[in-house]
This record gives sequence, structure tokens and C-alpha cells, in this order.
Amino acid sequence: VHTPKIGDLEVIPNARVGVDSRGIITYVATGPLLTTIESEALNHDPSLQSISVVDITTSGFRKFFIPGFIDTHIHAPQFPNCGVFGNSTLFSWLTKYTYPVEMALEDPIKAKDVYNRVVQKTLSNGTTFCAYYATIHTTATNILADCAFKHGQRAYIGRSCMDCAKKEYTDQGLEDGIHSTKTVIEHIKSIDADYKLIKPILSPRNANKCSPEFMLWLAEQSREQGIPIQAHLSETEDEVEQILKMFPHCKTYTEIYDSHKLLTESSILGHCIFLSNEELKLINKRKSSISHCPTSNSCLTSGEARLRWIIDSGSKVGLGTDVSGGFSPSMLTTARHAVLVSRHVAMKTKSDHDKISVNESLYLATLGGAKVMGMEQELGSFEVGKKWECQLIDLDTKESPVDLFDFLNPSVEGLLAGDPSHISRFQDLIDKWVFNGDDRNVRRVYVNGRCVLDKD
Ligand code: GUN
Ligand code: FE
Repeated sequence: VHTPKIGDLEVIPNARVGVDSRGIITYVATGPLLTTIESEALNHDPSLQSISVVDITTSGFRKFFIPGFIDTHIHAPQFPNCGVFGNSTLFSWLTKYTYPVEMALEDPIKAKDVYNRVVQKTLSNGTTFCAYYATIHTTATNILADCAFKHGQRAYIGRSCMDCAKKEYTDQGLEDGIHSTKTVIEHIKSIDADYKLIKPILSPRNANKCSPEFMLWLAEQSREQGIPIQAHLSETEDEVEQILKMFPHCKTYTEIYDSHKLLTESSILGHCIFLSNEELKLINKRKSSISHCPTSNSCLTSGEARLRWIIDSGSKVGLGTDVSGGFSPSMLTTARHAVLVSRHVAMKTKSDHDKISVNESLYLATLGGAKVMGMEQELGSFEVGKKWECQLIDLDTKESPVDLFDFLNPSVEGLLAGDPSHISRFQDLIDKWVFNGDDRNVRRVYVNGRCVLDKD
């Protein structure tokens, strides 16, 4: 099951997928065993001779593979605070809850505990790839890189860059910020020289916490070393107002980043709630990406991003949990909230067009995310040449929160015959999973062709 195009859910019942020793999909076959394409692949690649088979056909439609979730915006150090935000809004939340927990992770023992748990928790929820923000601390950020690598999760690792923040939690000036950023990049190179699984991401937290000189230096590093960038953009009206006062020569928040060369093809901009038409146009012109964070935007009452408007403009857009602005580390929960928030927008605009469907939300959580991460050639759907990077979902485990009823469910025969009523019942099942499912339905997780989590 995958979403090769936004809005389209493709189901290939009883498919056989060949994966080679590098974790790359070599064929997708259906019908009788050993089609020509399959035998050709088997003859062509000797590694396929030592074949190991994972067979889920006996469970009918209740087990399926779906691409791994891609979380395009998550703060690993804030994981202990999931669900803790009271009635705060962005500024009070940052001061009261967020900076204290981030400061505590200067202690490597605490960092190791939190980061091991956040990586295991997200993997257990089927997230195969995260764009992480860490803290300002080099040792702790390096620990996050070690944890993702150890557990086999694909990750962008970002040390939060903030050389002009409040004095109790800030880089000690530009030199310190640059030195710390370089140290983290070197560490990641030392454990994964070719960035096969983990890669640094330059993370100017936002325009009021990072000096103009630091932003320009980060943009230069991104250009020279091919390292992606992530930042927060237009999250609350108060924030936009405050930041614009600091840059009187810029008309918009987006223009501030652009004038510091931070809008690139590999830039991921979190939130983007209060953009003007001109700002969205500029983001698209620079081919930068947007991370939509519906859970966080609801928890912190930041606002409702106009997701349909963003999609219709042709932006690259994915979903982010934004833990712990968002209370849940689950991308399934976030996909659910993207659907719900779009309905709140639709209630205001009185336009059904603003509603995001379950299939669109699943696209944003997988292939949309792969585009945001600049890896749509490798990840996000099941195509020959892409990585086998996915989750095995089981709707029928003893502890599953999804209730199945035979009279509601499709038959494999009906699906194989392409019977429209059975296809529509399979869609119902997917909808049930998106709204009622959770990590108990994730049985296995594969990254780079390797099973990194097996709960059976
Ligand atoms: N803006 C600056 N830092 C943060 C953060 O940690 N979370 C969110 N949601 N917004 C931010
Ligand atoms: Fe954030």
C-alpha cells in the first residue's frame, strides 16, 4: 500500500517485492510465481540467490507494508515534555517548559536516556526518517547522532544554532556557535562518512535567535558542503511582529531568511502559518520546503496553516510532529490532525476543497516528506530503484486498537479481482487505521532494506 501521487492510494494485493543486498527494490511482481521480470532479477543479482522470504499472504488484507513515516520537524530533547504545555502560547511555552528541558540535556547521561527513548519511540511508531532539532550542546547533539545510528533510524541531526538568545541558554557568541556546529558535522562524518543513514542539518532556530552573521555563515556552509537547512517560519502573529521590528529593511519574515541566503532547495521551513501570497511564492521560487505541524499548531494555539493553499501552489510539503509543541511523537496521530485541522479551515472558509483526505495526509507523511528531505528518488513509495524502507502494519493483533468486523472488510479475492466494492472497503480499513491505529499495529520496521525493529 502506498501513495505514489497525492490523493491516490495504490493497493497491490499479493504483490511480491524483490529487495537486493543493498536494500534496493529490484522488482514488484504480481500474479503467478516467477514472472519474467522476477527470474531476470534473480539471475542478474547473485545476492538474491540467498533469498530470505517474508510472507504475509496468509493474513489476507489485515497485514500490509506501507512506506515508513517521515517526520520533517521534531525536537528530540523536548520528548520528556510531550503532553505538557498547559495553556501556554509559543513565547510562554518556550520559557516555561522548553528551554529548561533543553538546558537539562547538557548532562550527557540525561541526553543518552532521552535520545535513546525518542529514537526507539519514533521507530516503534513507524517513523523511519526524522529531521531532528537537538539542543545547543555539542556532546549531547553528538549523542543523538550516535543513538539514531545505533538503532538504524535515518536522521538529519541539527544542533540548534542560537547565538543571540537569552543568556541562560545561548551559544557564547558567533565564534562559539560556528565552532560547535563544525564539531557536530565532524562527529557525524566520523560515524557515517558518506551520510548513508545520518546527516547533519544546519538549524538556525529562528531569525530572532540567530545573528545575521551566523545565518550567513550557515547558508554558506549549506552551499559549500551540500548540507540541508531547517528553521521555524511564521509560527505565531506575535512572533512575526517581534521579528519584523528587528529587521526594519525586510517586509516579511520569509524575506529575512531570503536576504540571509537561507532559502535553498534543501531548506525545511517549520509551521508557515501566517504567510502572505508573496511569501509562499518566494518559498516556491527558491524550491524550499514546508513542514506542516498541525498537532503543535493546535496545542500552542498558534494558528491553522492553510494546507490546501500550500499544496495547490505546488510547494514541497510534508508533516512534522514538532514534539513537544506537538504532544505526540506519532506521525499517524499527526496525519490524523492534518485531516482534522483542514476541516476547521473548511468550516471557516465554507469550502470543501480545503478538506484534506486521509490518502492525501498519508502522502504527506510518506512521499511528501521524502520530497521535503530531498530524497524522493530513494524513499517514500515502493518503486523499483528506491529503498525498501517501510513498516509492516498488522490490524489484527490481539492488542490492536482497530476493531475489525468481517461484514465490513474486503476479501482478498475481491481485491484481486479489482471489485470496486472491495476496493472501497479496503479504503475504509485504511481510514479506520489512520483514525484508530497506533504503534501496536506496527509489527516491523525496515530502514535501508534492513529490519531494524521486529516486535514478534
Ligand atoms: N520556535 C523556536 N523554537 C521553537 C521550538 O522549539 N518549537 C516550536 N514549535 N517553535 C519554536
Ligand atoms: Fe519546532
